[in-house]
Order: sequence, then C-alpha cells, then structure tokens
Amino acid sequence: MAAAGAWAQTPVPAIFKDADLKLGEQLIAEHKCNQCHAMKWADDGKAIYRPKGAIDTAGKLRGMVEGCNTRMNLGLFPEEVTAISAVLNRDHYRFGP
Ligand code: HEC
Repeated sequence: MAAAGAWAQTPVPAIFKDADLKLGEQLIAEHKCNQCHAMKWADDGKAIYRPKGAIDTAGKLRGMVEGCNTRMNLGLFPEEVTAISAVLNRDHYRFGP
C-alpha cells in the first residue's frame, strides 16, 4: 500500500497518531460532510477545508469537526471525530506535529 507507506513517513500530529484513517474516510462518506458543505459553498464541498482560515493547528481542526458533530447532532464518538480529522488533515490541511 503506497498510501500507507507515505503516511508513515509524513510527520503526523500527535493527536492523530492512532487515528483509524479507513474509519475516517468511511464516516466522511456516510455523514455526507461534503454534501452539506456544498449546499452552503457553491463548489464540491471541499473548498470549505481552508488551512489558511481560522483553523491553523491540528487541535483546532479536530475542534471544528467536533463542533460540526455537536451542532449537526451527528452522534460521533470521540475516536471517530479523531479519525475524520486525521483524514481531513492528510488530504487538505496537512498540519505537522
Ligand atoms: C448539515 C450541514 C453540515 C454537515 C452535515 C457537516 N458540516 Fe461541517 N460545516 C458546516 C458549516 C455551516 C460550517 C461553517 C461553520 C463555521 O464557519 O463556523 C462547517 C465547517 C466545517 C469545518 C471548518 C472548515 C474550515 O477550515 O474553516 C470543518 C473542518 C467541517 N465543517 C467538518 C465537517 C465534517 C468532518 C463533517 C462530517 C462528519 C461535517 N463537517 C458535517 C455544516 C455542516
């Protein structure tokens, strides 16, 4: 698995070290995160993930996902929030440790 190897070599924020990336990807699809964001932002729903915005650390990213979880009543467990945040970090934000 090339992706897994590349991931292992990339510095990962400590809070995402044990994150289950497969689970995170699955949850992002299941909870239609991007579909909802796309209704508010006229694009594919991914432009919302803005590393240059208010979110500038891995901790804040996780906090924002937790915020969406709470506000939208998604009912995610803490480790699921971490898994989702880790995937968003890998694909969009790329925060280091
Ligand atoms: C029902 C609609 C809705 C759903 C479902 C939803 N979100 Fe959001 N999300 C929003 C809105 C609205 C904002 C902007 C809030 C703000 O700026 O305070 C937002 C903002 C965010 C941000 C901040 C982006 C940035 O860089 O500023 C992240 C990260 C995020 N959502 C993650 C998720 C994830 C992950 C899920 C799925 C588990 C999800 N959201 C599901 C509506 C939603």
